Amino acid sequence: MTTIDGIDLEFATLDEIHEAALARLDPGVRDFLEGGAGEEVTLRRNRAAFDKWAFVPRIMSGAGAPDISGSFLGIDLDIPVMTAPFGTDGLFDPDGHVAVARANEGAGTVSIVPEAGTFAVERIAGAAPGAAAIGQFHPLGTDQTFLTMMRRYEAAGYRALCLTCDCPTGGWRERNLRNRFSPDESIIAGNYPGGPEEYGPIFGQLFAQTAPIWTWDRLSSLLGQGTLPWIAKGIMTVVDARAALAAGASGLLVSNHGGRQLDGQRASLEVLPEIRDAVGPNVQIALDSGIRRGSDVVKAIALGADAVVIGRLAVYGLTAGGERGVARVMELLGAEIRNILALLGRGSLAEIGRDAVMRVTD
Ligand SMILES: Cc1cc2nc3c(=O)[nH]c(=O)nc-3n(C[C@H](O)[C@H](O)[C@H](O)COP(=O)(O)O)c2cc1C
Repeated sequence: MTTIDGIDLEFATLDEIHEAALARLDPGVRDFLEGGAGEEVTLRRNRAAFDKWAFVPRIMSGAGAPDISGSFLGIDLDIPVMTAPFGTDGLFDPDGHVAVARANEGAGTVSIVPEAGTFAVERIAGAAPGAAAIGQFHPLGTDQTFLTMMRRYEAAGYRALCLTCDCPTGGWRERNLRNRFSPDESIIAGNYPGGPEEYGPIFGQLFAQTAPIWTWDRLSSLLGQGTLPWIAKGIMTVVDARAALAAGASGLLVSNHGGRQLDGQRASLEVLPEIRDAVGPNVQIALDSGIRRGSDVVKAIALGADAVVIGRLAVYGLTAGGERGVARVMELLGAEIRNILALLGRGSLAEIGRDAVMRVTD
């Protein structure tokens, strides 16, 4: 490894990791990763939203070396960035989420481990018990399949659950349709080795249409039989934020699924401040969709997030360099966040509030 002053020159910037990842992927997989639903309006909005907020520095503030540690749902984080539950991980690296979790353990953060992944959730927990902290699944299928997955996460030592609530069916992904692309079933069969025969809903959700028969009441009564706190993923309105909390959620993941589900909705960063204002300061909120740099993380925290979640950015690291690639993403994000905090004149994430940003029109 070539280093100068301890800095790994292999990937000097996050953009370099992105470029290296794209160069390694076949066109169909690249489009599957980069694309969104419909005309990709929401995909573009997710990125554009960050430019609408400008930083407001405080010079000569006397702030010392920035502390970027935080926590989410009582889980300590050395960096306020968790990795998203992205399925199909075996398309990007043979070790998939095992590598992601190992990198997160080294970085002092955690994975939201997906149900629709290439590896069983127990295997990921065995490889990196500290990082395999939040288990994701979809409210789909029968009560029995739901409870089985919940019990598996509990038994494997996960500390919280993440329910993806914005997938009553798959998004209308035109790049995949044009490419005639659909991943091999084995790539999402880590938890269901029998494939569709063993457990239809997740496969049905990805490859066909399913009936949207799930409600907050049903979700709440099933989760009430478990022992772990849970968060709702896919929150994009104040109405749904309140409904999730009324159903017993301990936290919210404000997310439009990286623009991969309902196209035409707003950017997740746009809705974040109104959701924070509606639920008050004590509800745990994470945000995903569009995070690509350290400055994005700081803006999300200024607008009300306790932590952020990275989807494609984690996949870029995984594709470019496996475990080391994800570790490098976390190192670079951490360095950028420290740099921004120092230039903003703030010594810690707790000092990053709304007064650190302002809305601009240029
Ligand atoms: C390849 C890929 C697979 C994904 N699979 C899932 C999944 O199985 N369940 C889920 O809740 N979200 C899934 N997501 C969405 C992410 O969890 C996350 O919401 C999104 O990637 C955030 O946006 P970003 O990519 O701009 O960071 C997936 C995303 C990608 C890129």
